[in-house]
Amino acid sequence: MTFLGIETSCDETGVSIVTHKPGQQFSLNDILSNIVSSQYIHSQLGGVIPELASRAHIQLIAPITKTALAVAKRDFHDLDGIAVTYGPGLVGALLVGLSFAKALAINLHIPFVGINHVEGHIFSLLLSCPELKPPFISLIISGGHTELILVKNYCQYQTLGSTLDDACGEAYDKVARMLNLPYPGGAFIEKLAVNGTHTIRFPIPQMPGYNFSFSGLKTAVLYYLKETKDYRPEDVACSFQETVIDFLWEKIKKVSSDYKINQIGVSGGVAINKRIRSRLSEYGQIYGIKFYFPQPVMCADNGAMIAACGIERYQRFGPSDLSLTVQSRIPSIQ
Ligand code: KG4
Ligand code: ZN
Repeated sequence: MTFLGIETSCDETGVSIVTHKPGQQFSLNDILSNIVSSQYIHSQLGGVIPELASRAHIQLIAPITKTALAVAKRDFHDLDGIAVTYGPGLVGALLVGLSFAKALAINLHIPFVGINHVEGHIFSLLLSCPELKPPFISLIISGGHTELILVKNYCQYQTLGSTLDDACGEAYDKVARMLNLPYPGGAFIEKLAVNGTHTIRFPIPQMPGYNFSFSGLKTAVLYYLKETKDYRPEDVACSFQETVIDFLWEKIKKVSSDYKINQIGVSGGVAINKRIRSRLSEYGQIYGIKFYFPQPVMCADNGAMIAACGIERYQRFGPSDLSLTVQSRIPSIQ
């Protein structure tokens, strides 16, 4: 079964061709092509400008689709279906992908399947780690999301917690801005932190249950910078990052012990962070918890995770109705 996957929920235009034998484990070998164009215009402006994102998607979507087919050595007529992100995300950006996908599907007389972007990030894990099988806990940390999800079975979920304010990546981006680093700042904080020490004791956020909150930590960093004359940005970056990791670990430890599940998959743009990967894996070794991370190329938004999710959902639930429209927010995945 060969699907085209389209992702346009934010500032990445991603198109991919994935071929997969239903019933088998997913693997990176299923990905015939995966073309992602990140819109650099936003980095010059310090954040994603929705109108500019939509315009860039319109310019990029057709040529990137052609490239994805060419790299995969496939033709439109080799496609069995089209999967596309319908939410959550920026409405105008989502509309570009969804309208393009519907038009193609109608024209080619093939099914289309609308995909929740958050579920897509779970499939980036399944593609990268064929040995990972449900039940497992999925932690999604990105610029727009921080979600703790129980994956009971394929396409069967229970959302256990999410952020009540800023997303994890958003906190990285805001702290990066305070330190005059470029946008998006996650990778710059990680790089700076390598030469820093954890000398500043920012408080670990206190949140009941499985929910997250990052705005208090962000504000603590802001006040520290305002009130301190001589600080090393490296130490600020390192101390912020270590506090984030300890916070994530606290939640993971709790959920793993409460649900008696020791397989944890971490995905989303922030999951590319090497320090987060190594610290969580070290904690996990002490507590008998096994961590899974996607290949770095699968961490950021991409069409392959959407295509893989589309194939699985199509097998289980059939196509989406053409009346499906975009949704900027979707409370939780099921
Ligand atoms: O998944 P993604 O590409 O887009 C969303 O769905 O939001 O994630 C982008 C986020 C940004 O906030 C970016 O700063 C963060 O991922 N990020 C990182 C790193 N690389 C990207 N955060 C921490 N460390 C990194 N190395
Ligand atoms: Zn994402």
